[in-house]
Amino acid sequence: MADFFPPPVLPLAIRFDPHTALAEPSGPVVTRRISDLEGLFADAAAWERLRADGDPVIYSVASSPVPELARELPQSVTTIHPGDCGGEFFMTKGHQHPDPQGEIYLGLAGKGGLLLFNGERPDWIDMSPGMIGYIPPGWAHRSVNVGSEPYRFLAVYPGSAGHDYQWVVEHGMGHRIWRSAAGFELKSFGGSS
Ligand code: PA5
Ligand code: MN
Repeated sequence: MADFFPPPVLPLAIRFDPHTALAEPSGPVVTRRISDLEGLFADAAAWERLRADGDPVIYSVASSPVPELARELPQSVTTIHPGDCGGEFFMTKGHQHPDPQGEIYLGLAGKGGLLLFNGERPDWIDMSPGMIGYIPPGWAHRSVNVGSEPYRFLAVYPGSAGHDYQWVVEHGMGHRIWRSAAGFELKSFGGSS
């Protein structure tokens, strides 16, 4: 079964397949369905309809085998499928790093965005192939597919950063991203389409 390499990790060439996004050599692969995102979309009835109607995969995260350990720099490729839940675009759960460290994302395919929130103000970075989004320490982050094709990006992060999902449940992300006539629009967290 795919897993992280034990240390010490030797110099390593990793190929991320451009069609499947799988790493070779491979680390863990996580798949998130709509049922894994309970309570995150504004429209609970739309969420329940999607869950009952096949529980679709919303995104997957394919990691390289570089371990999530201090001083290492793990990488992963996330693919978010196109679609929306009651008008709110498909997105990742979003998290804060318990050990406040920065992270970079590089857009690989499709059209997406990086929603950031430091507990006081939100920010948004448009993401497309070739764009780097920088996540500073202390900023929670969530990715959103605002296009009609899969949105895919590479993430590189300090191995000791960790993932705190409860922070986003408690604080929200400042904004929600809704489908609109112009493509997409950001509205404050309580807002709906
Ligand atoms: O390290 C990251 O920030 C990313 O690899 C995310 O973990 C990935 O995009 C999935 O998002 P989340 O962890 O919020 O479900
Ligand atoms: Mn992160």
